Amino acid sequence: MPQTPARRRVRPPRSPALHAAPASRPSSLLQRAHLPPVPSTLLIPLAARARGARYFSWLDCRDAVAGGLLERLGADVDALLDDLPTVFQVLWRTRAVKDAGRAFFAAHPQGLGANLGCGLTQHFQWLDVGANQWLDADLPEVMALRRPLLPAWGPRARQAEVDLTQPGWWQRLGLPSRSGAQPVLLVCEGVLMYLQPAQVQAVLAEFAQHAPTGSRMVLDVLTRQAVGRAARHPSVGPTGAEFCWGVGRMAELAAVHPRLRLLREQSAAEGYGWAGIALDALWRPWLGAPVYGVATLGVRDGSP
Ligand SMILES: C[S@@+](CC[C@H](N)C(=O)[O-])C[C@H]1O[C@@H](n2cnc3c(N)ncnc32)[C@H](O)[C@@H]1O
Repeated sequence: MPQTPARRRVRPPRSPALHAAPASRPSSLLQRAHLPPVPSTLLIPLAARARGARYFSWLDCRDAVAGGLLERLGADVDALLDDLPTVFQVLWRTRAVKDAGRAFFAAHPQGLGANLGCGLTQHFQWLDVGANQWLDADLPEVMALRRPLLPAWGPRARQAEVDLTQPGWWQRLGLPSRSGAQPVLLVCEGVLMYLQPAQVQAVLAEFAQHAPTGSRMVLDVLTRQAVGRAARHPSVGPTGAEFCWGVGRMAELAAVHPRLRLLREQSAAEGYGWAGIALDALWRPWLGAPVYGVATLGVRDGSP
């Protein structure tokens, strides 16, 4: 039976490497990158993937690169690891993305996956099935930090700069046309809640307009009740980033474009076992959507 974050709230021993970092490196790699508030949130999921399994061992994602990245960044992430609900959500969504990716590439072993707003993730470590391809894309300032730390994962992987708020990103990233033979898997986690609602709708519509049949988009969502309240979030608040988009009903996602279908919705509450499922059912009439969840969108064949 999974334990809730509250029951596991034990402060970890400080990592000697991280604790020593500020003294040995007066200006860490991360500080020198001068990331603006939203891009700087990439440290939150990175810390969870690197160190979160000590609290939630059943969600251990076995990230082979995150720990080393944290050390090279010279970041002190103790405060982020104290925010156990967020650590839990990141590990839970990582498992959801891995499961969705494995199912997609089992069906399309030569398909393409693209992680939009990739931050410092390396999902191809889990999803490389031998003949598929992978693209990691984020804002220019993040890619400048990422490239020297995380070179492309072999010849079937590439990296690119993208600003999802600028229409036309599908073509600029060289993603396949709708008539393309191979479907595409898009991953967009921890990103869209920082965009304005109209920008999110444009991102979903661009996926719907261009994606070949069989394509999938896996994204995480926050309840609309969280919009404007990032200052109260223990990890996001200190970055200065704000939650600008949330969902009132999961059906809103597919309503953006006639070609979209909501194939699956998952609530992070499920990860807490029966107690979480019961609480989710209790809140749902008021919230209309999970407090935090993952949606998988598909595209219909033959629609506009
Ligand atoms: C919380 S981090 C998540 C990073 C990564 N997806 C993960 O799970 O570790 C948010 C990411 O969204 C990216 N992002 C925010 N706005 C973006 C935009 N307009 N276009 C592309 N990426 C964006 C940020 O640069 C940052 O890397």
